[in-house]
Amino acid sequence: MTKLPKDIGINTLLAHAGHDPEDYHGFVNPPVVHASTVLFPDTETMLGRKQRYTYGTRGTPTTDALASAVDALEGSAGTICVPSGLAAVTIPLLAFLSSGDHLLCVDSVYNPTRRFADGLLKRMGVETTYYEPEMGADIERLIRPNTKVVWTESPGSNTFEMQDIPAICEVAHRHDAIVMMDNTWATPLYFKPLDFGVDISIHAATKYPGGHSDVLLGLVSANERCWTQLHDTHITMGCCSGPDDVYQVQRGLKTMGIRLDRHQKSALEIARWCEGQDGIASVLNPALPSHPGYDLWKRDFSGSSGLFSIVLDGGGQDAAAAFLDALTIFGLGYSWGGHESLAVLVNLSDRTVARGDYGGSVIRLQIGLEDPADLVADLERGLAAVKALD
Ligand SMILES: Cc1ncc(COP(=O)(O)O)c(C=O)c1O
Repeated sequence: MTKLPKDIGINTLLAHAGHDPEDYHGFVNPPVVHASTVLFPDTETMLGRKQRYTYGTRGTPTTDALASAVDALEGSAGTICVPSGLAAVTIPLLAFLSSGDHLLCVDSVYNPTRRFADGLLKRMGVETTYYEPEMGADIERLIRPNTKVVWTESPGSNTFEMQDIPAICEVAHRHDAIVMMDNTWATPLYFKPLDFGVDISIHAATKYPGGHSDVLLGLVSANERCWTQLHDTHITMGCCSGPDDVYQVQRGLKTMGIRLDRHQKSALEIARWCEGQDGIASVLNPALPSHPGYDLWKRDFSGSSGLFSIVLDGGGQDAAAAFLDALTIFGLGYSWGGHESLAVLVNLSDRTVARGDYGGSVIRLQIGLEDPADLVADLERGLAAVKALD
């Protein structure tokens, strides 16, 4: 770990955290260690596992470089690297839930998290209750004696509801449950979950840390209380990540601050433009004063990223298809956080309690690094195509 002065700026931290060049012949970047076997000098060292690295699944200088950079950003006791953002969701849930336990999960959750809870966790004997995203301390009435984990994601997937994370943590901890948060949207640059009471912070590093739509990786960071159990489960599951992917993400971290700044500025400019357009009923971005979660966002977050949704002014699926098919710069694709802009029609049919009626199709926009004027012109093409249906 690089010895850095305290009180440095975030971009300085991103540029230098993780790898100390003195540890590897002065090279600025960490080595990419392709490893299964690690040799031991003698039997005593081998039997006692008395050396830093013992086997490829248990960590390498490459995974350590990324994990310690992320610990510096999150303020965590330890971080594991897993092969996808979805694995960063499933591994901590498996680490802390057992048969007979109860999970409280926010209803605006990333859909594959729900699929995991309703499928594999249910089969394991874990019961899940979905709760309203706007629920703060009131979540207490849903807590049961066997509630072990409260899952949060703020803002929520696709509809961007904000959660009162400190209030939820206070209640959960009083009942001995732990709080996990999917913090992919904000990254630790714009929200530091552990500082607000969260025990485990989860990231699809595929998004902003990777930043170029060419790598899948997940990161899970835990506080002191949860680190040993999380780490043990990671080792037990053998769910380690490939060194090239880990390297790509640690490389991506170096520029994440400046990329996020650009995503934020462009997304806000475009979101504000969208608010004034005929054909758009509303804009779902918590960094806009018109959003119901704006006050919570302003209280707890220090920035907003490049993902938000627009609601078309009626017209159903035909209007949504006309809008999307007229776009030439925005690609139609899942994922987000990369350099290129994307659009996707949101499906909210999985919601059980947060069934907001938005009055039109919800379209999620990922604002990339292109010039905002070109993206606005593209959205104008989309809106013109919807109008042409009249
Ligand atoms: C909020 C959120 N969490 C987790 C993931 C999973 O990430 P990955 O695509 O790396 O599995 C995604 C992917 O879209 C996501 O949007």
